[in-house]
Amino acid sequence: MNDFKNLFSPITINKMTVKNRIFAPPMGTNRCTPKGESSVEMEECLRDLSRGGAGLVVIEIADIDSKRRYDEHVLGIFDDSLIPGWKKLVAAIHENGAKAIAQVIHAGNIPLVDADDPEDTGTVSASTVPHAYNPSRIPREMTVDEMMEVKALYVAAARRVKEAGCDGIEVHCAHNHGLLATFVSPLHNKRTDEYGGNLVGRMKFPLEIIRAIREQSGPDFPISVRISACEMEDGGCTIDDTCLMAKLFEEAGVDFFDISNGTLTKSQFVIPPTGMPLALNADYAQKIKQAVSVPVGCVGRIKDPWTAEEIIRLGKADMVFIGRALLSDPEFPNKVMAGQVDDIRPCIGCTECVTSAMYGGPTTCSMNSALGHECDNEIGVCKTKKKILIAGGGPGGLEAARVAALRGHEVTIMEKAAKLGGQFAIAAIPPAKQDLAAGLQYQIREVKRLGVNLIMGKEVTAQVVKEFSPDVVIAATGGKEIMPEWLMKGAHKNVCTAWEALAGVENIGRNILVIGGGQVGCETADYLAPHNYRNLGGRKVTIIEMQDNIMVDDYSPNRNMLVDRLNRKNVAIITGGKVETVLEDGIEYVADGAKHVLKGIDTIVAAMGTISENSLYEELKDSGIQVCLIGDAQQPRKIMQAVYEGAQAARQI
Ligand SMILES: Cc1cc2nc3c(=O)[nH]c(=O)nc-3n(C[C@H](O)[C@H](O)[C@H](O)COP(=O)(O)OP(=O)(O)OC[C@H]3O[C@@H](n4cnc5c(N)ncnc54)[C@H](O)[C@@H]3O)c2cc1C
Ligand SMILES: Cc1cc2nc3c(=O)[nH]c(=O)nc-3n(C[C@H](O)[C@H](O)[C@H](O)COP(=O)(O)O)c2cc1C
Ligand code: SF4
Repeated sequence: MNDFKNLFSPITINKMTVKNRIFAPPMGTNRCTPKGESSVEMEECLRDLSRGGAGLVVIEIADIDSKRRYDEHVLGIFDDSLIPGWKKLVAAIHENGAKAIAQVIHAGNIPLVDADDPEDTGTVSASTVPHAYNPSRIPREMTVDEMMEVKALYVAAARRVKEAGCDGIEVHCAHNHGLLATFVSPLHNKRTDEYGGNLVGRMKFPLEIIRAIREQSGPDFPISVRISACEMEDGGCTIDDTCLMAKLFEEAGVDFFDISNGTLTKSQFVIPPTGMPLALNADYAQKIKQAVSVPVGCVGRIKDPWTAEEIIRLGKADMVFIGRALLSDPEFPNKVMAGQVDDIRPCIGCTECVTSAMYGGPTTCSMNSALGHECDNEIGVCKTKKKILIAGGGPGGLEAARVAALRGHEVTIMEKAAKLGGQFAIAAIPPAKQDLAAGLQYQIREVKRLGVNLIMGKEVTAQVVKEFSPDVVIAATGGKEIMPEWLMKGAHKNVCTAWEALAGVENIGRNILVIGGGQVGCETADYLAPHNYRNLGGRKVTIIEMQDNIMVDDYSPNRNMLVDRLNRKNVAIITGGKVETVLEDGIEYVADGAKHVLKGIDTIVAAMGTISENSLYEELKDSGIQVCLIGDAQQPRKIMQAVYEGAQAARQI
């Protein structure tokens, strides 16, 4: 089970030999300048990936057209002045023996920022179908003359990529976004000239580009294409279409394939969250391998070495692209090689990395507190060993303990509950969230390995602190649920919180109302509705939410997947509804200015948010004892913030 000889065997693609089969796919760091220049932080990220043992690293997406930028944080390869920055990126990858590949894109229908060309700021595409993220911005159908201009941009980009020292180039043609993906997709390409119609017509432009790049780069320069095995939407490309596409790409000069999946509207297939199948594209890759003779790699939830090894051993793919699992632990390949599989910090599939980038910040990670903060992130050793008391063993407290112990301090966690984990343990309970349990398991394993003193079932109070006499207290006391008086003291006698429902209170009925349609409310509804309520033993679950949608401001792939499941389970969703009165067997609520009644409710579940549990901090802050407040105790948020603040607090001691 621990023999990974296939995973660590070299592979030769065209004339490039890669030392192992672990390829890091392109992952945007959001660390470029608005001019598309690379940065020291990007170099550090790429250096980490290659130092960690990946055989090949695909550099994040790069714009080839300065007039239509994908986004202001996206790397550029549209001007010779950018080449020196690229050379540094490539050097950071080469430094540790990995190969460097550039991924290039024409943003086409996607640009979210206006271009710097005041005369033509519109988006362009194969046809006038807008991108789902940008539905009111109708792209202009490209003329053939414009397409030839774009071809020249690809050729120029390929020249720069080679001049920068890259070992190859990957053309982005996946996920139904970006210009070439719109050409291949029947959902976007409605052209009636020779560049549309059937699959051969839709492939004509992408193939012309591959041939032009080949001509520019010479026969030995590896060219890869990223394609979606399946668009996962009605009317979109199917795996059979993609097999044919791959064959045509190979004939045009493509040396290897990077098989992804889905579209941005079906983002749970692009960046698959916890709960999606592991290695969800491996079987597709195998089909594509049967259609072509060049190497095929697949991406998507390959997050443990056993799955990766099996994909290669069974011949499903020639390489595995491992993405987020290398963000959460860039040392993954080295640890596997050294037989330290248990030391790998697992990716929990929360997709907060993508969300952080979507909000414009650097790409950060819930499990890896260093990601996105590389430059100031040496853990180091403390100058003076201190006695540190951490109140609370949730993810924030556990990370604080890990880092403090690594720095050489004497560390104790006191946790008032009987076991470690705090909300992290509850968060793992809803369907599809099992990966969080593995994340927590890792945190617990680490603090034990580092000799942290663990005291369970003990609440930290000011008195306890006095008796324990620590040099520093870290208040990682987390949050508690909001249970409003009007509900608790209302007429309905079977009321509980979402946390209680998930932890397994026994008297949950069959007709349930969840008040609050945020993530916790929706996940709890999902948990309580095991299957459609018309099935035997099924439950009828209704969510009522005040805002005009559930999980507003959540752009994660996890949301797409959860909403799909709530719909499949027939969970009723009332939005724009405010509960006014609690009845003995239901509620009265107001929506659209009218009063409505919901009767026959057996159980009401409150999912109305979290408030900070910061009473210990309030007691201690003026007592002369050094105390820091981290995580949800400071402000209720997510695992990522708790973990980062835990690490930061410990680093400063
Ligand atoms: C159902 C659910 C789903 C969630 N899903 C996600 C998700 O998918 N992704 C995500 O990022 N976040 C999610 N969260 C939120 C996330 O779990 C929290 O933001 C995170 O756990 C906060 O970590 P923390 O360490 O600050 O506090 P907590 O996890 O709340 O831990 C605090 C700990 O302190 C203990 N404690 C409190 N007072 C004392 C005291 N005086 N002495 C000793 N011990 C004390 C508590 O018992 C608890 O164990 C979810 C939360 C819930 C409830
Ligand atoms: C933060 C982040 C940034 C990404 N940026 C890109 C990108 O620049 N180009 C691209 O084709 N895919 C991008 N992806 C998708 C990944 O390359 C990969 O296909 C996806 O994460 C699934 O693989 P995984 O399950 O191993 O993470 C990104 C993913 C993440 C998490
Ligand atoms: S943020 Fe979550 S999904 Fe992204 S790499 Fe980290 S653990 Fe994995």
